[in-house]
Amino acid sequence: IKDEFLLKLKENLDSNQVNQIKTDLFGKNGVISSKFKQLGKVAEQERKKFASDLNSVKDELQNLITSKINDIETKEINQKLEKEKIDITLPERPFVQGKIHPVSQVIDEISSIFSEIGFSVKEGPDIENEYNNFTALNTPDNHPARDMHDTFYLDEKKELLLRTHTSPVQIRTMLNDKPPFKIIAPGRTYRSDSDQTHTPMFHQVEGLHIDKDINMGHLKGCLNYFIKEFFEVDKIKMRFRPSHFPFTEPSAEVDIGYEIKDGKIVIGEGDKWLEILGCGMVHPNVLKNVKVNPDKFQGYAFGIGIDRLAMLKYGINDLRAFFDCDYRWLNHFGFDP
Ligand code: PHE
Repeated sequence: IKDEFLLKLKENLDSNQVNQIKTDLFGKNGVISSKFKQLGKVAEQERKKFASDLNSVKDELQNLITSKINDIETKEINQKLEKEKIDITLPERPFVQGKIHPVSQVIDEISSIFSEIGFSVKEGPDIENEYNNFTALNTPDNHPARDMHDTFYLDEKKELLLRTHTSPVQIRTMLNDKPPFKIIAPGRTYRSDSDQTHTPMFHQVEGLHIDKDINMGHLKGCLNYFIKEFFEVDKIKMRFRPSHFPFTEPSAEVDIGYEIKDGKIVIGEGDKWLEILGCGMVHPNVLKNVKVNPDKFQGYAFGIGIDRLAMLKYGINDLRAFFDCDYRWLNHFGFDP
C-alpha cells in the first residue's frame, strides 16, 4: 500500500486530487481504516508488529499529505499574487468631474434665500390643464392674455398644455391646503418664442404669500430683500413698472439696471434695463376660484425669470447657450459640485 500511495503522491497534483487520496486512505472505508478493522483477525503473536507497522505507514502517509497540501496552498497564493499585481507604471485614467448647470445652481440659491424668510418650496407638473394655467387665474377663454402666452397645446381640444408660467402652482397649492400660504415654486415653463433673451423652454420661480393683512409694501420689501441677497449687494438699481396680469391687481413688472462691459453683463450701474419678474396683489377672483375668502385673506404673488437672473449674476449674454448642451460651455460656466 505504502509504495503505491507514495508513488501517487509524487505526481503533480492539485488540492482536489490530494484530498481525494486522503479520503481513499483515511476515510471511513479508506484503505488504512479498513486495515485497522482487520486487526482482530491477525494471529495474536503478529498483532503487535502489524499494528505498529500500520501506525508508522499511517503517520508517514499523513505527514506527506499535510506537506503536499501546504505546498499546493503556497503555490496557489503565489500564483494569485502574481496575477493581481498592480502595475504602478501605468498612467492614471483621466478623472472627469461633471459641473452643476448655472440654472440648477441659481434655483438652489433662490430656494435657500426664500427659505430663510419663511417660504416653503413647492412643485407642480410641466403638463397642465388649461383650467389651472388660465381659467382659475382669472384668464377666461378668449382673453387676449391667452394669445400673448404663445401656448404649446398638447391636444386638439386645448385642454392640456405645457404650462406657460409657474402660476398654476398657486392654484394647486391653494386648492390643496388652507390659508395662510407662503410658498415658492421653481420649475420649467414653455412658450413658443426664441431670440437672444427668449427660449421655448425656460425657468420661473413663482412666489405666493397669502395671509390676513398682506399688502403691496410687503411685496416690495420681500422682492427688494431677495434681489439684494441674490446679487450679494447693498444697493441695486431696480424699478417697479405698472403692468397688467389678469390674476393680480394692481400688477407690476420689475426691471434691473445693468450695462455691458467688454461684452459682459454687469449689474448695478448703467442705463439698460432687463425685466426679471412680474408681480402684484392676488386678484380676488383668483381667491374665490380656490375657495379662499377674499374678505379675510389677501396677499401678493410674483413670477421671476430664473434664466435671466442667472445671466445677470454670472455675466452670460446669450440665453440660448444655456440649453445648447455644449460640454465646453458647461465646463466654463458650470459650478463644482
Ligand atoms: N405668471 C406671470 C408671467 O409669467 C408672472 C406673474 C406671476 C405675475 C405672479 C404676477 C404674479 O408673466
